[in-house]
Amino acid sequence: MNRIQEIMSKMNISNDMGDLSLKKPGKITKPSNKCIYNECDGSGMIHYRREDGTEAMTFCKCREQRQLLNSIKTARIPKEYHHKSLEDFNVNHYQSKDAIKHAKYAQKVASGFIKSFETMNDMGKGLYIYSKTKGTGKTLLSIIIIYELMMKYQINPLYISVVNILSELKNTFHQKEVNSYDIIRSLTEADILVMDDLGVEKTTDWVEEILTQILDERMMDNKPTIITSNMPITELDRKYPSGRIKSRVEKMTFPIPMPEESVRSTLSKQENDKVAKLFFEDE
Ligand SMILES: Nc1ncnc2c1ncn2[C@@H]1O[C@H](COP(=O)(O)OP(=O)(O)O)[C@@H](O)[C@H]1O
Ligand SMILES: [Mg+2]
Ligand SMILES: [Zn+2]
Repeated sequence: MNRIQEIMSKMNISNDMGDLSLKKPGKITKPSNKCIYNECDGSGMIHYRREDGTEAMTFCKCREQRQLLNSIKTARIPKEYHHKSLEDFNVNHYQSKDAIKHAKYAQKVASGFIKSFETMNDMGKGLYIYSKTKGTGKTLLSIIIIYELMMKYQINPLYISVVNILSELKNTFHQKEVNSYDIIRSLTEADILVMDDLGVEKTTDWVEEILTQILDERMMDNKPTIITSNMPITELDRKYPSGRIKSRVEKMTFPIPMPEESVRSTLSKQENDKVAKLFFEDE
C-alpha cells in the first residue's frame, strides 16, 4: 500500500482512532460520522464545550484528507490511474535494456521535478513526456507527478485529455450555460495542468488557435504544464504549421523520451499467461 492508498483507506474507517479522545480540547458536541475521525460536524469544524461551559470551534484533522479527495475529484483524473504514486512506476515492466534505461531516466526526471517543484514553479517549467508507441506509461507518469505534487505542496492540479477538451469546447457552441471562455479559464488557472495526448487530435486552424491560447496564457502566468504526446517536440512544427505551438512547448517544458515499449501489452500477456496456467494446470 502506498502513502496515497493509505490515506484513502483511512477514509473508510471511522472508529479505529480510540485514544484520539485524550487530545480533544473539551467535550465534542456535534460529532458526525461524515468525519473520518468522528470528531467534527462533517464540514471540517469541531464544535466543543470547554470545562468552564463556554462553546468553541476548532479545525478538524480530516480537512486535509477532504481537500485531497476533492482535488482528485475536481482534477478529472481517470479511474484507471487513481491513487498512484512514484513507487507504482515500475521499471521492471519494460523488457529491453534500452527501454529500461529510458524508464529509469524518466523516473529520475520525474522525481527531480517533484523535489524541485518550487523552482520549476518559479520558472514556469513543465515536462514533455513522449513516445510514438502507445501504452508506454506516459499518462501514468504524468498523473503520478500531479498526485505527488498534491500531497507535497497542496496545489490544485488539473488533468485533461486534449481530444476530450476540444470536443467539450466544441459542444459549448450549442450551449448557453457553459461557455468556452469558462473552460479555457479553468485550464489556464490550474496550478499545474496535464495536457494528455497532444498531437493525437486532427489539426484545424481552430484547434491550433485554442491550444496556442491555453499555452500562451499559462506561459505568461509562469504556470507549469505537463504535456504527453506521441511525437517529439521537433515534429510539432509539422503537426501545427503556424509554428507557435512548438516554440512555446520548447520554452515551457523539459523533455522526457519514454521507452518505445508497451507496458500495457506486456501486462496483458502476463495476465493471460496466468489465466492459461489456471486452465491447463492439471494436465
Ligand atoms: N512503468 C509502469 N509501471 C507500472 N504500470 C505501468 C507502467 N507503464 C505503464 N503502465 C500501465 O500500463 C497501462 C498503459 O499505460 P499508459 O500510461 O496509459 O500509457 P500511454 O499513456 O503511454 O499510452 C496503464 O494501465 C498503466 O498503469
Ligand atoms: Mg496515454
Ligand atoms: Zn472531521
